[in-house]
Amino acid sequence: MNSTTLILGLETSCDETAAALVRRHADGSGVLLSNQVYSQLKDHAPFGGVVPEIAARAHVQHLDGLIAAAMKEAGVTFADLDAVAATAGPGLLGGLLVGVMEAKAIALARSIPLLAVNHLEGHALTPRLLQKCEFPYLLLLISGGHTQFQLVEGVGRYTRLGTTIDDALGEAFDKVAKLLGLGLPGGPRVEAEARRGNAKRFDFPRPMKGRSGCDFSFSGLKTAVREVVRDLGIASEQDIADVCASFQQAVADTLADRLSHAFAAFTAIHAMPNPVLVVAGGVAANAALRAVLERQCASHGFTLNVPPFHLCTDNAAMIAWAGAERLALGLADGLDFAARPRWPLDAVSAPAYGSGRMGAKA
Ligand code: KG4
Ligand code: ZN
Repeated sequence: MNSTTLILGLETSCDETAAALVRRHADGSGVLLSNQVYSQLKDHAPFGGVVPEIAARAHVQHLDGLIAAAMKEAGVTFADLDAVAATAGPGLLGGLLVGVMEAKAIALARSIPLLAVNHLEGHALTPRLLQKCEFPYLLLLISGGHTQFQLVEGVGRYTRLGTTIDDALGEAFDKVAKLLGLGLPGGPRVEAEARRGNAKRFDFPRPMKGRSGCDFSFSGLKTAVREVVRDLGIASEQDIADVCASFQQAVADTLADRLSHAFAAFTAIHAMPNPVLVVAGGVAANAALRAVLERQCASHGFTLNVPPFHLCTDNAAMIAWAGAERLALGLADGLDFAARPRWPLDAVSAPAYGSGRMGAKA
């Protein structure tokens, strides 16, 4: 294997179609050469959620163009590639097949290795593309499909410390937005409304707060919001802002509580001088929740590492990078690798909704 490797990454597991090129040097450092993402948001917006068939067709339509654009941006050709990586799960099967088949065709045509990457591993390893980030670290993944704490001890070495037992956090934001008629994407709209709202007006539940362990639950909170919205009838602008602010405050309090448990769980396994919390997923963009992360890290002696937003949300750079890390360890996959709609990061954890085992959006 060359001391430096050039990897093309493809991401098609949900509603982003993406292609990216990264280079990995022998010392383990990475360079992001290009990162092309097409968001299908407007394709799905009329339906109020992601429609699998529409997603798969949009991946077919856009993937080739994105690969060409990523190649051009990076100034490389197919002949320069050392390997190709694609998200092989978890996610929507139709979309996964598009990316995996494309990667297999490129691998076969160019006689280069194929890396079938777990989307969650992509999120987990992203900080190492940008800077030195030694194992072990604690990962909090808060996206539209997952809400998990993972202990990351190495490439392929993950232990789930906690997960949502029902809805993912981003999903809860999206559902609250829908209940209030705010539209998609829900998270940023709820955050914007919350800024001018009264967080004390509605006393929403703080799910799991005070319970042992690091699991999350958001369905009860969502139901409580639904009941308040129903009781309000036709909500005024102030009502909407107050519901959003009170909901976001309930999430912030829950997150603070779960974080302190996760810090303790991590420290019980790895007592170390400068532990790190890595955060990934679209919800990490929320400024109010980011403040909670910062405060909790500071008070528990953890350093917070949140990759830039465009690498926190779904992208192909993280897939290319996870592929590069796996390739460096000789972990290439066969061309018979089948896409896996359910694929937990850690094989031993019990099945749970939102863990990658129940076919949830990643
Ligand atoms: O990681 P991501 O881009 O995609 C996947 O879910 O895979 O995350 C998208 C989720 C959506 O649920 C969106 O509403 C949420 O992240 N989100 C936010 C914010 N920005 C995006 N949630 C709360 N506050 C935000 N500012
Ligand atoms: Zn994701």
